[in-house]
Amino acid sequence: MVVSDNALASKVGTAILKNGGNAIDAAVATAFALAVTHPQAGNIGGGGFLVYMNSDGNATTIDFREKAPLLATSDMFLDEDGELIRGSNHYGAKSIGVPGTVAGLYLAHQKYGLLPWKVLVQPSIYLAENGVELSWTLAGHAKSFNASAQPQFLRDYYDNEEGEPTQFGEVWVQKELANTLKLIRDNGKDGFYKGAVASEIAAFMKANGGIITMEDLSKYEAIEREAISGTYKGYEIFSMPPPSSGGVAIIEMLNMVEQANLDTIPFNSTNYVHLLAEVMRRAFADRAEHLGDPDFNLNMPLKRLTSKEFAKMRYNNIDFKHASVSDSSKFGQIYEGENTTHLSVIDKDGNAVSMTYTLEQSYGSGLGSSKLGFIFNNEMGDFNPQPGYTNSGWLIGTDPNIIEPEKRMLSSMSPTIVTKNGKPYLIIGSPGGRTIINTVFQTILNVIEYDMPIERAIEVMKIHHQWLPDELIFEYDLMSPDTQKALEQMGHNLQGRQNLGRLMGILCTSESNVYIGASDSSSPDGAAIGY
Ligand code: GLY
Repeated sequence: MVVSDNALASKVGTAILKNGGNAIDAAVATAFALAVTHPQAGNIGGGGFLVYMNSDGNATTIDFREKAPLLATSDMFLDEDGELIRGSNHYGAKSIGVPGTVAGLYLAHQKYGLLPWKVLVQPSIYLAENGVELSWTLAGHAKSFNASAQPQFLRDYYDNEEGEPTQFGEVWVQKELANTLKLIRDNGKDGFYKGAVASEIAAFMKANGGIITMEDLSKYEAIEREAISGTYKGYEIFSMPPPSSGGVAIIEMLNMVEQANLDTIPFNSTNYVHLLAEVMRRAFADRAEHLGDPDFNLNMPLKRLTSKEFAKMRYNNIDFKHASVSDSSKFGQIYEGENTTHLSVIDKDGNAVSMTYTLEQSYGSGLGSSKLGFIFNNEMGDFNPQPGYTNSGWLIGTDPNIIEPEKRMLSSMSPTIVTKNGKPYLIIGSPGGRTIINTVFQTILNVIEYDMPIERAIEVMKIHHQWLPDELIFEYDLMSPDTQKALEQMGHNLQGRQNLGRLMGILCTSESNVYIGASDSSSPDGAAIGY
C-alpha cells in the first residue's frame, strides 16, 4: 500500500510493489513521481527525511535535509543595523539551501532497495515526458501564477507550447524536467550533484545572486541516523531525530500525556484541548531552546528531553484550570512554510517507510533554471535569521539554529512509525510546518487512546500550540462554541483555522492482517492505493 498527496504517484509506488520492489523502492519511485505530479512540494530541488522499519521492527532514518551553502553567514539576511530584512530569508536565490532529495533517495536505495535504480526513476520520466492531465488544483495554480508577480520561472511553469497556462484536464508536459531525471536515472546521485545539472545549478546561482557553488553540490551527502524512539503505553514510537525537531517533541508530548489518565478525558472536551495545548506549549519551548543540526550541536539533551522523568517534571506544573503564559522574554517562533508532502508505504513483507520532504513554502523559492525544469527550495528560511534576537511574535534567535556554512536548518517534519508487539502498526506523517508535530501527535493519540480507525483519526478536530506566539489554533468548524468559550475563560487565546494537517497514514491491523490506508480529505489529489 502507498499513500501520498497524488493518486498517480501512489499508483507508481504500488506498481513498483507489485513488480517485486520493497517499501524503499516504492517510496523512492513515489517521491520521484511526486516531483512531477505534485510540484508544490514534491521535489528534487528540496530535502527531507525518511524513516524505514523492516518487518523485524528494526528502524533507521535517512536525513536528506538541505544545508547552508559554504558561503552562508549568520548575518546574511540582516541590514547594516543588524535588523532582519523582512522576507529576505524566504525570497530570492539566497533563500535556497543545498538540495538533498536526490542524495537521500539514492542512499536509501543503495542501502535498502531491491530493484535497479533506473526502474525507480523511469516512471517519473514517463510522466514528465508524456505529460499528466492537469488537476483542478494545479490548473488553479497555473492561472494565478500567470497573472501574478511571481518569479518568471513560476509564471511560465505551467505554460503549454503556445505560452498559455495549461487548463484543467489538458495534458501538461515537462520536457526539461524529463531530461534532468534521465541524467539522474543514468548516473544516480552524480547525475544531480556533478556534471551538467550541477554546473547549470551553479551558473543559475551566479546569474541570480545565489551563493550555491559546484563545491557545495559535490560535497552534499545524505546521512543515515539512528531513529529517535520512545514508548507510549506499550507501543513504541520511532521518528526523525535532529535536524528534525519532530521526533523529540512528539515523544516528549506523549510522555507528558502518559501522566494523565486519558481514559477519563473525552476526546474534544475542554479538558482534552487544554491538556494538549499545555503539553504542546512546553514541548515547543524546549524545541526552541535546545534543538538544531546535531553535527553542529554536539551536546543537545535528547535523552533528557525524551525521558519519562523530564516529562513528569514538565507535566507537574500544568494548571488544569488555567492556561499558562508563554514567556516571550525567553523564546519565540519564526514563520515556517506549511507546504510539505508526506508519503507512507508498506510492502507485502511488512517493511515500512514514512517519508516527508519539502521545498519549504509552496513551490519553494519559485525559482528554477528553464534548462533543468525543477523548482528550488527556500529552506534557508527555516534558520533563525537574527542571532540573539527573540520576540513574542515570529522571531527566534536561539543559538542551535543560527546559520553556519554546511549546517542543516531545524525542521518540524515528523515522519513516524509506531509499532505494536515489535511490528509496524501505524505509519504516519503530514505537511504543515510546525503544525506537523502536533497533528502527527494527535493522530497517534486518536488511534491508540481513542480507538479511531485511521481515516477518522486523520480527519477529526486538531489543535496547534507552538509556545509563541501564545495562540491556541483550532479547526473552527470542528470544535463546539461551548468548548471555545470555556477555553477562552481559562485564558487561552483562540485562533480558528479551516484546516490543520494533511495526514497520510497506514494502519496495520494484526488481527485481520489487513493494511488500511487513508489520505486526508484536505489533499485534493491524494490517494491511498493498495493491492
Ligand atoms: N520547511 C518545513 C519544515 O522543515 O518543517
